[in-house]
Amino acid sequence: MPYNAGFMCGFGLTGSAWTCDGVPLSAIAAAVGTPAYVYSAATIRDRLGAFSAGFASYPHAIHYALKANSNLAVVRVVRAAGGLVDANSGGEIDVALRAGYAPGDIVLTGVGKTPAEIDRAVALGVKAINAESSGELDRIAAVARARQTIARVALRVNPDVAADSHPHISTGLSTHKFGVPIGAARAIARQAGARGELAFVGLHVHVASQMLGLEPLRQAAAAVVGLARELRDDHVTVEHVDLGGGLGIAYDGEPVPSADQYAAALIEVVRPSGLTLVVEPGRAIVGAAGALLTSVVDVKPQSGGKWFVVLDAGMSELMRPALYGAYHRIVLVEPRATDPVSCDVVGPICESSDVFGVDRRLPLPAVGAVVAVLDAGAYGSAMASNYNRHALPVEVMVDAGAWRVVRRRQTIDDQLVCEE
Ligand code: LLP
Repeated sequence: MPYNAGFMCGFGLTGSAWTCDGVPLSAIAAAVGTPAYVYSAATIRDRLGAFSAGFASYPHAIHYALKANSNLAVVRVVRAAGGLVDANSGGEIDVALRAGYAPGDIVLTGVGKTPAEIDRAVALGVKAINAESSGELDRIAAVARARQTIARVALRVNPDVAADSHPHISTGLSTHKFGVPIGAARAIARQAGARGELAFVGLHVHVASQMLGLEPLRQAAAAVVGLARELRDDHVTVEHVDLGGGLGIAYDGEPVPSADQYAAALIEVVRPSGLTLVVEPGRAIVGAAGALLTSVVDVKPQSGGKWFVVLDAGMSELMRPALYGAYHRIVLVEPRATDPVSCDVVGPICESSDVFGVDRRLPLPAVGAVVAVLDAGAYGSAMASNYNRHALPVEVMVDAGAWRVVRRRQTIDDQLVCEE
C-alpha cells in the first residue's frame, strides 16, 4: 500500500466512543471479553510505510524487531507491507519462518545466543548473525566449519554513547553487557574478516529504546561508519551498518522525531560511506498500533478524596508501568459525561507495583466499564506472563473495517498441559 500520511487510522474517539480503525472497542470487548489486546493493521502498515518513505532515497533494509510483538498475525502484516525481521532468539526465528519469511530476510541479534540458536541460524543461512563477542565469533565459525558452510556475521559494537532513556532500556554504554567495546572492535572484526568460515558483512549497534532525540543515534552511526572506514583500510569490506532500533513514540503527547527526520539523520551520517543502512525498529512500528482492553472490576474510595479503579488486567498483561514506571494513556471506551475525579488505576495482582496510572483524571467508571490502555502494541503482549495464573489475553486484529481473533485466550488447560 503506498504510504499516505493523510490516512486516518488507529485508536481515536469517533463520535462518543473509542474505536480502532472505525470499529467500536466496546463491541470487540463485548464479543471476546477482557483483557484483550486489539491491533490496527492499518497503523502497522502506515508506520512501516513512513519508514520506507523516509529511507527511500538511500539503499536500506527495515528489519522489524520481533521482540516488540511477535504475534503471527502482526508479523504477517509486517511481511505483507515489505518489512524484514530482526529476531532475538530461536523462538523468534521460528515465528518469522512460520510467517513466511526466508532465512535471508532475518538478522539474529541477542547477547546470549545458545549453541542451538547459533546452529540453527548457521544451518538456515540467515542474512546476518550479529555477534556479541570474539568468543561468539569463534563458536559461529566452528559451527560453520562443521556444517561446511560460510556464516554471514556482523559485529555488535558498544559505542559507549549515553542515551536519554530509561536505564533499563539503555544499552549503549560501556558498562552495559551488549557488544564489544568500540576500541576493541577493529581488531576483532579484522580477525573475523580473515576467517574462511565467516563472511563478515556488517557492523551492528543499538543504543537504547524509546529515544526521543536523534543525537545518540547520530553519534552511534558515526562511530560505526568510522569503524567501517578503518576496516576498509584493513581490506575488510562490509555490506551494511545496522543501527538497531530505538525511535520512541509519544506515550504522553511528548514531541517525537518523525520517521522522516529519523531517516534523514541516519542517512546523512551513513551516505558518504555508501554502505547499506539497516534499521531494526520495533516500538515505532507497532507501539501505537495496539491497545489493551480491560474491565473495571471494583471502584473504591481512598483517603484524600481519591479513588482506586481496579481492573481485570495488571502487570501480568502489561508489565511496562510496573517495570519502568512507564506512562500509558487510559481512557473509558465509552466516555461518561460526569466530572472527572482523581483515580489510581490499578491491576488485580498482589503487588503494590501493579499500578497502571496514578492520579489520573477520569469520570468515575462503573464496575463493568471497559477501559483502553493505549500505545500497548509494543512490549505489551510480548512481555505478558501467567503470573497469578492469569491467562495470556485474547488478541484481535482489526483490518479494513472488520476484526478477527488472532490469538484465542489461553485456558487453564493450556497453562497446565506442560505440567501434567
Ligand atoms: N534492536 C535491538 C538490538 C534491540 O535490543 C531492540 C530493543 C530493538 C532493535 C528494538 O528497539 P525499539 O525500536 O523497539 O526501541 N521492554 C522495553 C523495551 C526493550 C527494548 C529492547 N531492545 C519497553 O517496554 O520499553
